[in-house]
Amino acid sequence: MLQTELPFDPPKSEMKHLSYRERLAKLLKGNLDFHGEKGATHVHAWHAFPARFPPRLPERFITELTQPGDIVFDPMMGSCTTLLEAVISGRRAVGTDIDPLSLRLAQAKLNAADMKNTRESGDELIESVRHRLSNGKDALEKSLKKRFDPKTKAFADYWFAHSTQIELAALADEIEKIENRTLRAFFTLVFSSVIITKSGGVSLARDLAHTRPHRVTDKIPASPVAEFGKRLQRNLNRLTCHPQAESMVMEANSQRLPLAKETVDLIVTSPPYANNAIDYMRAHKFSLVWLGHSVSSLSRLRRTYIGGESTTGTEFLPLPAYSEHIVGRLTASDRKKGRMLHRYYSEMSRTLSEMHRVLRPGRAAVVVVGTSVIRGTDIEIQKCLREIGEHHGFEHIHTAVRRLDRNKRMMPARWNTSNTGIEARMHEEYVIGFLKTE
Ligand SMILES: C[S@@+](CC[C@H](N)C(=O)[O-])C[C@H]1O[C@@H](n2cnc3c(N)ncnc32)[C@H](O)[C@@H]1O
Repeated sequence: MLQTELPFDPPKSEMKHLSYRERLAKLLKGNLDFHGEKGATHVHAWHAFPARFPPRLPERFITELTQPGDIVFDPMMGSCTTLLEAVISGRRAVGTDIDPLSLRLAQAKLNAADMKNTRESGDELIESVRHRLSNGKDALEKSLKKRFDPKTKAFADYWFAHSTQIELAALADEIEKIENRTLRAFFTLVFSSVIITKSGGVSLARDLAHTRPHRVTDKIPASPVAEFGKRLQRNLNRLTCHPQAESMVMEANSQRLPLAKETVDLIVTSPPYANNAIDYMRAHKFSLVWLGHSVSSLSRLRRTYIGGESTTGTEFLPLPAYSEHIVGRLTASDRKKGRMLHRYYSEMSRTLSEMHRVLRPGRAAVVVVGTSVIRGTDIEIQKCLREIGEHHGFEHIHTAVRRLDRNKRMMPARWNTSNTGIEARMHEEYVIGFLKTE
């Protein structure tokens, strides 16, 4: 589509005279592509995160549908895009996620305005790491030995060269010693950003940020300490001041939200893909093992992510008619995949029910979701989630289709390789707009 053919964007002056419902409809019918807009030079870009949405997307709904002081909520906050945009525009932000890396990123990003003397502290940190590397190698070897249980050690040995492990252990040790929580959270984020990059960072992996890592033998990994220094500098350059609106993040499953009913003014969120196309834990454990998590505990946690493959112990819910039909169609061609999809829609049903409960009447929930094709079958996610949302009492206002920016968005690696019809559709996603009627 040519630029001139893009849907019309409503001017702000016109929006003022519309009712809340009309504003929501108008926003959904406007241009939601946001290609080539802000992001890379911002706190948003402090750390790689697959399938995050462009900051302008939540920003537009937040500024047009809420007032300063209102509560904006994202039950699956990921890299914190919605929450950051909320606090930047003076709204209060609440977020939940089950991913330990997401929670750590939120802690660092939402407190960015509190950081004092960060550059000096960063230089001191690097200095003490370098000192330990040149004077305390034996102690570091011992510390590395104690760091992991056998299974986690086997993981670290497979994916990281020994010299890299020594540097990472020194960095992790020194970061743990920092007393100021905000600084510690920021340095932890920088540490993780050195490992989780498109190219696999300082590990022996490639395609890490795409969450499909594979080990390569011809890679000469860069020095973690040198990379840490570069990232520190780059992230500090991206540190923009933003108002310190209140924010709260919680480790919680979106199917059981720790919020009272009718407490939030707007939800903007994006759930994981239905076909497990992005396996967050597969990439995130590369840095989480250095932050005190064991491979076994992370594997247990991975099973609880929405969109996971395993259906052992799943509490399946009865689905409304069309969603039941789509699950049945897939089950007929592949029973296992059919059960996986049933799990996904059951989990999304509990999530949408919780979103409806915590939202104030008369307010909107915006759900951004990727297209999914399983075994060659389009699972019609936009129709099914709409139907499930309506089943829980939401009024569906409109579903927009937005085109992903291939250059920016980190998508599953295999999607970048072919140009078939299905692959082309994978470069679109849906923005489903719901209203909780009064
Ligand atoms: C597509 S990402 C969200 C990206 C986010 N919109 C952003 O811009 O960074 C989906 C998120 O859902 C989270 N998630 C998966 N299962 C969850 C669950 N049961 N409860 C809460 N969050 C969950 C994942 O950890 C991941 O961070």
